[in-house]
Amino acid sequence: MRMLLLLPTLFAAGALGAQAAPAKTVEGLKAFYAQSCVKCHGADGSAQGPGGKKLGGRDFTDAAKMAKDQDADLVKTIRKGIFFGMVMPSFKDQLSEEEAGLLVREVLRKAEKGKAIVPEGGTAR
Ligand code: HEC
Repeated sequence: MRMLLLLPTLFAAGALGAQAAPAKTVEGLKAFYAQSCVKCHGADGSAQGPGGKKLGGRDFTDAAKMAKDQDADLVKTIRKGIFFGMVMPSFKDQLSEEEAGLLVREVLRKAEKGKAIVPEGGTAR
């Protein structure tokens, strides 16, 4: 799976003349979200599942709540998990600090209610 996520990055780096690109692209991070976060945070990030079912995770489309948190705190939680990984798993083995930062800025903070983070609900590449 890691290989799959890496492929678009290698491609992008090549296309840009192999500059030091972040290890994961925004597209790669969206696919990662679809695999690893959707079951608790929802396809659109609103913490709602199909049919409006309430899921356990944070609602990223709740602007007031999101405004209270610094990116650094969100990154920390993503990498550390919540309550020893029992409430939310730790993703520090899958996401570097830089990648988690990109995920917060470009994916979670841009989440819109009703708009799937990965269109077609699939694990897009
Ligand atoms: C097993 C369920 C579960 C999974 C999987 C999960 N989360 Fe969470 N997440 C939670 C819960 C529960 C909370 C706390 C709810 C709240 O803040 O209201 C939370 C909170 C968060 C927060 C807010 C943290 C803070 O500091 O307040 C962020 C950011 C977050 N999750 C990101 C992610 C990302 C990114 C993924 C996938 C890589 C992910 N989560 C996967 C359950 C999950």
